[in-house]
Amino acid sequence: MYLGIDLGTSGLKALISDDEGKIIESSSASYDVSYVENNGTEQDPEIWIKALDKVLIELKNYLKEVKALAISGQMHGLVILDKFDNVIRPCILWNDGRTIKENNLLNIDKEFIYDNTANISYSGFTLPKLLWLYNNERDNFNKINKIMLPKDYLIYYLTGNFVSDYTDMSGTLLLDVKNRCYNKEMLKLAKIEISQLPILKESYEVVGLIKPELSLKYGFNNTKVATGGADNALAALGTGTIKEGYCNISLGTSGTILIPIKEVKKINSYGLHIFSHIKDSYIMGCILSAANCRKWWLEDVLKTNDYLADENEMINVDTADLYFLPYLQGERSPHNNPLAKGAFIGLTNNTTKAMMSKAILEGVGFALYDSYQIVKASGIKINNLTICGGGSKSKLWCQIIADIFNMEVKTLANEQGPSFGAIILAMIADNKITLEDVDKLVNYTNIYYPKFDYSNKYKYYKKLYPALKNVFNS
Ligand code: XUL
Repeated sequence: MYLGIDLGTSGLKALISDDEGKIIESSSASYDVSYVENNGTEQDPEIWIKALDKVLIELKNYLKEVKALAISGQMHGLVILDKFDNVIRPCILWNDGRTIKENNLLNIDKEFIYDNTANISYSGFTLPKLLWLYNNERDNFNKINKIMLPKDYLIYYLTGNFVSDYTDMSGTLLLDVKNRCYNKEMLKLAKIEISQLPILKESYEVVGLIKPELSLKYGFNNTKVATGGADNALAALGTGTIKEGYCNISLGTSGTILIPIKEVKKINSYGLHIFSHIKDSYIMGCILSAANCRKWWLEDVLKTNDYLADENEMINVDTADLYFLPYLQGERSPHNNPLAKGAFIGLTNNTTKAMMSKAILEGVGFALYDSYQIVKASGIKINNLTICGGGSKSKLWCQIIADIFNMEVKTLANEQGPSFGAIILAMIADNKITLEDVDKLVNYTNIYYPKFDYSNKYKYYKKLYPALKNVFNS
């Protein structure tokens, strides 16, 4: 058996597969994000350990059969440990917007940052967070002995090994993505030494075994642990998106559109990221609020958990003149503006709750389509589009995306792309399969064909952010 774990933003999910990669059990534990001042978002790594503990206890009956496990993780989070291995402060998350000053300073010379990393700086990336810490919490900065990403913290906890992988390190702005190594210039900018950073390994390499005391507690038996990877890379792996022409959309708390590329190449915009994939690289647009918009609307505003009732109400609802901008937590791709805000535009006395719910699904789809426009303009073509993540449980949302992209959209039986990607890594780490076998493991169960033409509505949607930008930034 194999175990794939996804350390997400709203919870930790785990899948167990049999020896052939067929899912036989799952478990999950949820936790919250702390929204702090200055548009900040944080999580205490202790809540991840508690969630891991709950899930491993639930799955205990299977664990002695688990030959290998891998972990997928939310990207960019800054976890810092002192010389006694104590966590110095809560992790600053990927959707944190407090580093505007540091980010703007880094981007004064975009070319320099791009030449050294293949990306420019975004507020949620790890380097601006380190600089924020240096500027605002110098005592904490001075205590740093180890810098790691969220899933690396779990690997360190499970194995005692201080390692990370290329897919996740790509989002720190400390990695030279093209050459897959730390970049000295960027380390200098961050005022850190290479000894404070994890050793880099491939995502499917074995890092070590689970520590004896934890093996005893949870019943593992010589279980190997792979390095693991960034949630978006593993979601792509889990949906078979590892070749050119493929594209995966992940509808989690964030929304991403990811397209594998063979060579790191400069595109005509700084609005997208270029990160290391399990093999080669990928180009990705990331919007900070995707399924989070729906959660905000239903759970926080309307105080309901009834997603199914909401879904049923939306069927056949006409949203012609109603628009939603999904920038509830600022925006990454393509606008790179932590001050962007969400908005409903076009409300009338006839607007209903169902129309607003549907406009949210469309707004998220349009925001992802914005990134795809940039990819398309740079000559990259796609012919296989998949969707995964919690949002893909909504059939209507998948249909809306097929309509907006005017392309067939495929989904998997199991929407948990990242945890399934982690299972694939565990299988490779155990020498059960190779990367070439991935296609055989991925089964698409639903296909959505485009039915409705959104091109006219998108034309108007595209004008909204530029028109409102000054209001957001004022
Ligand atoms: C990607 C990003 C998000 C997180 C969510 O750049 O910030 O997709 O990885 O977990």
